[in-house]
Amino acid sequence: MDAMVLYTKYHTSRNDERRGLFEIARTEFGVERGLYPGCFVHVTPSFCIERMVYVDSDARAAAFFADGAVRALVEREKVYDSAAEIIFYRRDYRAPLPLVEETFDLLISQYAGPISEHCKRYLRPGGILLANNSHGDAGLADNDPEFQFVAVINRRGQRYSLSTRDLDAHFVPKTRILSADRAEVRDYLLRLGRGVGYTKRADNYVFRKRSFMW
Ligand SMILES: C[S@@+](CC[C@H](N)C(=O)[O-])C[C@H]1O[C@@H](n2cnc3c(N)ncnc32)[C@H](O)[C@@H]1O
Repeated sequence: MDAMVLYTKYHTSRNDERRGLFEIARTEFGVERGLYPGCFVHVTPSFCIERMVYVDSDARAAAFFADGAVRALVEREKVYDSAAEIIFYRRDYRAPLPLVEETFDLLISQYAGPISEHCKRYLRPGGILLANNSHGDAGLADNDPEFQFVAVINRRGQRYSLSTRDLDAHFVPKTRILSADRAEVRDYLLRLGRGVGYTKRADNYVFRKRSFMW
């Protein structure tokens, strides 16, 4: 299928480009280089972030990123002056990727599995994980001592807003299904493959990779 038809079908026509998320990553966290495993045809981060690496195992994603129309779209929409750097790998993100570890400012996890688990090695210390909880990845990151939970991002209409208020109220399960043991919680969330219900929820969660471990 034509690349622009795919982008329209999955993003524009659903009002689901999520551009505001990446504007916040750029303006609030100074992100310049991002990694997006499980991207499918979601090229929107390149509108705001100069250097992006995309990874997906789907052949349609590979064809999409090979299409010149995608570059033209990014050239039209981008907010920065430099040329956009867009690299796509058709890979399983669970296997080692041809990337240098600890070099990315941003790791994006949206509806595509436990990306924090498999790809946090590419994020630099102090770098940002932007995750939703559809597949439980935000819960996994909250349970992971390598990450510090620093903010939430919520959407109202087309507006996205960042908040650091009341963070302690997040990740409180609605039911007592999770133990206090980190290893057990991790195993449970990985097995479940989706997010559990929390008493307070957000559309997206922001974590910072800790610079060192105690
Ligand atoms: C529901 S789509 C989400 C696409 C995009 N992240 C978004 O938010 O619009 C999930 C994508 O993740 C990809 N995916 C899932 N597991 C993967 C893996 N282990 N390696 C590479 N890609 C994967 C699928 O091929 C699919 O394109």
